[in-house]
Amino acid sequence: STDTKKHKIGFSQCISKDDWRKAMDHEMEVEASLYEDIDLTIFQGNEDVELQKSQIEFMIDNEFDVIIVSPLRPEPLVSVIEKAYDKGIPVIIVDRKINSQKFTAFIGANNLDVGRNAANYIASLNEKPSRILEIRGSDNSSPVIERHLGFHEIIYNEPNITVEYRINDEDIEQRVPQILDSLHVKPINFVYAFNDDIAYRTWKIAKSKGVEESIKFIGVDGLNGANNGIQLVQNGILAATILYPTGGDEAIKIAMKILRKENVSKNNILNTTVIDYRNAEIMKNQYDKINKHQNEIEEQQEKITQQEETYSTQKNILKVLLGL
Ligand code: FRU
Repeated sequence: STDTKKHKIGFSQCISKDDWRKAMDHEMEVEASLYEDIDLTIFQGNEDVELQKSQIEFMIDNEFDVIIVSPLRPEPLVSVIEKAYDKGIPVIIVDRKINSQKFTAFIGANNLDVGRNAANYIASLNEKPSRILEIRGSDNSSPVIERHLGFHEIIYNEPNITVEYRINDEDIEQRVPQILDSLHVKPINFVYAFNDDIAYRTWKIAKSKGVEESIKFIGVDGLNGANNGIQLVQNGILAATILYPTGGDEAIKIAMKILRKENVSKNNILNTTVIDYRNAEIMKNQYDKINKHQNEIEEQQEKITQQEETYSTQKNILKVLLGL
């Protein structure tokens, strides 16, 4: 495999530290390991658009065959992405959108639907009145904007549902205690948070004040694993989480199609769904199976690498023995 020329796929990941991003990276790595003829490099953007820009410039300069980007915000990367696209390098945008149509394919769930799902879930519980604390993400990324818009589109037509407070996640530590201290004046019975991590952090503050039982928490992401959405639903900490798949393996699949000159759709929309106590167990089992499968693939890859190393060492010894 080392003799064949490999296609270079590069991925600029906007945020590095959370489990959702790690799951996306991991999905890409596992999927990429299934193909002999590609080499995947993941560049960590560390929430820094300048860094992401330079990563994309690097990929252009080093003639990467496909560029994948999850852009932190919609505007700052437009010019460098357009530059890559105009040079004929296929560009795949994942999860967050940009303010441009100059890309080859987008892959991600519809965040308007995420917001709609959350609002419809609250409406389905039929608590009258439903008073909500909405907690948005702090950057103006497309998921932040669309999860808000989709949510409000639904509750606009629901007279019993109102958003009493709207705050940004960076203000949680300061604002949530104040809000919870004035529940007797302005009660709330729902928290709609931009993601599960924010929902969980808010729940912890509510718990410290002993009011967590009177509020239903709804997050987004629905990841498997310790203290992630599915488990938080199973523990009764979250009432629901709206599944937001990372699209990691699909992004690599699209990259492969492009490299093989197959047709790809410009918009590739992943499914979202509500996860609550009724389906959390099933979701967990499904993800556990996928994890098991991923681990097996990784173990096999490692064995292959070891075999390749042994093989080339033996080949070298043989060459020495034969005086070549
Ligand atoms: C992780 C994250 C997720 C969210 C996604 C949106 O970095 O904040 O929680 O669903 O990004 O782009």
